[in-house]
Amino acid sequence: MKIGTLQLPDQPVILAPMEDVTDPPFRYMCKKFGADLMFSEFVSSDALIRNVNRTLEKMEIQAYEHPYGIQLYGKNIVAMVESAKITETWGPDLIDINFGCPVKKVAMKGAGAGMLVDVPKMIKMTREIVRATKLPVTVKTRLGWDDNSKNIVEIAEMLQDTGIMALTIHGRTRAQMYRGEADWTLIGEVKNHPRIKIPIIGNGDITDPVETKKAFDRYGVDGIMIGRAAIGRPWIFRDVKHYLKTGEILPPMTVGDQIDLIKEHLELGFSFKDDRRGVVSMRRFFAVSFKGLSNFKETRIRLLQAEGKELVYQILEEIREKWGDQLLIPVPSKEEK
Ligand SMILES: Cc1cc2nc3c(=O)[nH]c(=O)nc-3n(C[C@H](O)[C@H](O)[C@H](O)COP(=O)(O)O)c2cc1C
Repeated sequence: MKIGTLQLPDQPVILAPMEDVTDPPFRYMCKKFGADLMFSEFVSSDALIRNVNRTLEKMEIQAYEHPYGIQLYGKNIVAMVESAKITETWGPDLIDINFGCPVKKVAMKGAGAGMLVDVPKMIKMTREIVRATKLPVTVKTRLGWDDNSKNIVEIAEMLQDTGIMALTIHGRTRAQMYRGEADWTLIGEVKNHPRIKIPIIGNGDITDPVETKKAFDRYGVDGIMIGRAAIGRPWIFRDVKHYLKTGEILPPMTVGDQIDLIKEHLELGFSFKDDRRGVVSMRRFFAVSFKGLSNFKETRIRLLQAEGKELVYQILEEIREKWGDQLLIPVPSKEEK
């Protein structure tokens, strides 16, 4: 698959942008297991222009992360264009525009999925960003605002005409937030529309290799993007790619394997953050990393509440001692945002 001049493998398996999740340590873990393309957390164009520290941190790219896209959001066209120019200087391979974020403080202010209710503005903003940068521009959005306005097929055509090089569609409306099931039929309709020439990346509820292959086969999409199912299971990229290539399901990981990976992830975190932030930012992963283990509840709570680095390592070793050889059954991780 090609995004402008950026060559990716065929049927790429892509890490979704996720706020508070897809930071450099997590991206390292996903890259290690073969994610074909990765994205930043979303970056506020207003904050980028004002040089807000936390936002500048989000802009940093590690050498191992390419091919890599920085995702921008905002409601102001001038600010978005300006931030696209700034983004170019940070060296990503592409710029993605977020027209999909459903959370109130973003969408109700007219940014993210909020742009779905003002399509002319969405198109104007996209066109101006495409003109302002030499990098390929992509868009990530949803099926529409709500059940009565699932206008993604028309929107996709208009977006294509602005010069974007790929479109990612999450198979839900804004009104659905993260509820219900992702509807892939409309994603397939966009992909199979005779006017659509740009690559279409499908997204929503993919949790295992078999579903990934079905989505490629049934809907003909060019790429698949995986979000929540990679949280606590970064090896999903390896499993999916192996299955697509060979038709073979790899054996599950053991709890011991998971602990080794968590420790690697933690250590990386400490090289970017202080000990407290390093531990706190791992809690989201701790919450889902040992899903399916019996009699684990009390240990999970202790792990989630542990304050210091040493205590976290100690609890992880206790887990290894008690459950180390058990297999991690691949349960779908349906975390709600
Ligand atoms: C914690 C969390 C943070 C997210 N942050 C972003 C974001 O910054 N930008 C974006 O385009 N989508 C974001 N999303 C949506 C995901 O990229 C993806 O579209 C959605 O989770 C559906 O895919 P999945 O079922 O594979 O998780 C976020 C989702 C979650 C769960």
